[in-house]
Amino acid sequence: MTLDSATPAPPDWYREPLAIGSVRLGSRFNLAPLAGYTNLPFRLSVREIGGVGLCTTDLVNARAIVENLKKTMLLLATDRAERPLFVQIFGSRADEMVAAAKWLVDHDLADGIDINMGCPVRKVVKTGGGSQMMCDTTGATVDLVRRVVEAVPVPVSVKMRLGWDADNLTAPHFAREFERVGVAALTIHGRTREQGFAGGVNHDGIRAVVDAVKRIPVFGNGDVRSVRDAARMIADTGCHGIAIGRGALADPWVFRQFDRWVRTGDPGPRATYAERLAFMRLHLHRLVAWKGGEKAGCVHFRKIATWYTKALRLPKKVQQKLVMLATLAEFEDVIGPFAAGPVPDGWTEYDAQQAHVPVPAGPIAHW
Ligand SMILES: Cc1cc2nc3c(=O)[nH]c(=O)nc-3n(C[C@H](O)[C@H](O)[C@H](O)COP(=O)(O)O)c2cc1C
Repeated sequence: MTLDSATPAPPDWYREPLAIGSVRLGSRFNLAPLAGYTNLPFRLSVREIGGVGLCTTDLVNARAIVENLKKTMLLLATDRAERPLFVQIFGSRADEMVAAAKWLVDHDLADGIDINMGCPVRKVVKTGGGSQMMCDTTGATVDLVRRVVEAVPVPVSVKMRLGWDADNLTAPHFAREFERVGVAALTIHGRTREQGFAGGVNHDGIRAVVDAVKRIPVFGNGDVRSVRDAARMIADTGCHGIAIGRGALADPWVFRQFDRWVRTGDPGPRATYAERLAFMRLHLHRLVAWKGGEKAGCVHFRKIATWYTKALRLPKKVQQKLVMLATLAEFEDVIGPFAAGPVPDGWTEYDAQQAHVPVPAGPIAHW
């Protein structure tokens, strides 16, 4: 793969190892949590490709952890092969957040705790959690985070946005305060809550967070899909690493590419069409194992079938069958001919990389 002048080389220090507190990362490129997608089946499969720094679970309600809700336990499912793993919790009550963090560590389910302060959706914000926490600069938010840090022996990180809206860019303030109370890393999505997922990512806003801290790593986040995007994020913001969400769903090979680019200057080959098909099959099989049933795994797969079919340029009739998928045999019937046959006419790697992952439809969407 050739890189052009719009792709500045990463600084030399990008080749040095990075850690979040006591947890050493495999690379500087983390998987950003995407609720409904970045569960155990996807994380394991991405890790096997390589190049991943750290994975974090989907956001999990702190109270539901303490109450041991069955659905929540599924979200917390993990495997030795994917460690280290951070579990992301949300909530607005310090006692619940502390209890959840302790419970996770006591049950050896987390090597670190990530606190969600970025989620814009109503379900989370109305509880006072997610990005709502970025509005309280009186000390309650910092106090909550401090109590979690003090309660567990593992590192605690925070994922946040730039602030509530353009007039309230509170992220640098919180970054400073969080570092002071012992937070070990920050991930910063370069949009405000008001922006939802619209508009561009504000690299200056991310830089202000990088500049606000002294020692802890800051991971830039938002709209990074290609080596060129990563290079711009690093050059513009000075971030110590990058968290990649939707770009990783569209192209789970991004971590391997980015890490290789940092180490050698060359991202190496892109995934082939056959590798992408094989990844989709593996993902489905793991969903079945995770859900504990063929039908349940296939039903979960339906919601991701559309972006796979788009990424692979599979015909409409294949998509129609996959979004109704009920058995693994059906999957093989539909996909078999493509696995054996040539790459579809006109397919390019670019198609795969642009695959669209639906976002909550605005900052106040029900999710
Ligand atoms: C469908 C979807 C689900 C998400 N779920 C979470 C979540 O559980 N926790 C979180 O901190 N951020 C969540 N996010 C935000 C992402 O982690 C990330 O900050 C955002 O998508 C921007 O990064 P990207 O452009 O690399 O995807 C979600 C985003 C999307 C689109």
